[in-house]
Amino acid sequence: MKKPVKRILAAFAAAVVIIAAAMSFASCSGTRTLEKIKASGELIVYTEGGFAPYEFIYNNELIGVDISIMQAVADEIGVKLTVKDVNFDTIIGAVQSGKADVGAAGITINDERRQSVDFSVPYSSTEQYVIVVAASEIPTVEALAGKQIGVQQGTTSDLMIEGLIKDGVMKDAVSTGYTAPSLAAAALGSKIDAVVTDKLTAQIIVAASNGAFKTDKLKKADGSDAAEVEEYGICVAKGNKELLDVINKVLEKLIADGKVNEWTEEFNAKAAPES
Ligand code: ARG
Repeated sequence: MKKPVKRILAAFAAAVVIIAAAMSFASCSGTRTLEKIKASGELIVYTEGGFAPYEFIYNNELIGVDISIMQAVADEIGVKLTVKDVNFDTIIGAVQSGKADVGAAGITINDERRQSVDFSVPYSSTEQYVIVVAASEIPTVEALAGKQIGVQQGTTSDLMIEGLIKDGVMKDAVSTGYTAPSLAAAALGSKIDAVVTDKLTAQIIVAASNGAFKTDKLKKADGSDAAEVEEYGICVAKGNKELLDVINKVLEKLIADGKVNEWTEEFNAKAAPES
């Protein structure tokens, strides 16, 4: 009779280990549950504020589509919204460690990021655009071989360009990471030949350039798109389900009511008045 008892004990021990591991996801990591957020009276959101129309500084204030969405979420929870403007490539780590409750920064949902955080339903989509000085032709991916390319660090643009260089499609191209797409654009024509970033952000940079720059979708020489359509999601720590449920509920309503579209137009107009 010894053996079955031992086996039961072993199975029980294994179950305890698995349950403890699962629980540590939500508790030990510093992740704040919805209950804790409510008790603290504040929702902490990390963003990177150089990404109009989703988040940008206007009259000394950080505004944009993501900020309005997160204000609606904070209102729904009944707490005050605190937004922190940080480098884009630190946002997912901050959400993962619990420093931030939420990451809202025009973040593209992808499988790699899904391993670190959980995403809301998508609320916007984008494609990769290339910006050059107005006198230049819009380059194809292949034509960027040997060129200096500026990207925002840690973004999907950064990852895509790095991949194309590694694969030999953009032979001898050099990619330089900046903390904001507009800073990369400021080096256009001097240090940088082209900037790659998300569509609306690219169009706003061009609209604000007084005719100095132009932009279009990044394509391959055969005319096909260089990258797939990307979708933006809001992220929370893995397993922070109650918080994600509130975010999804608010987002679904904002999308259905046409609010997300309305805000996108409104903040686009604010960020690029002459476009
Ligand atoms: N969608 C791109 C990405 O997820 C760029 C996002 C940049 N966002 C920002 N707030 N700077 O990588």
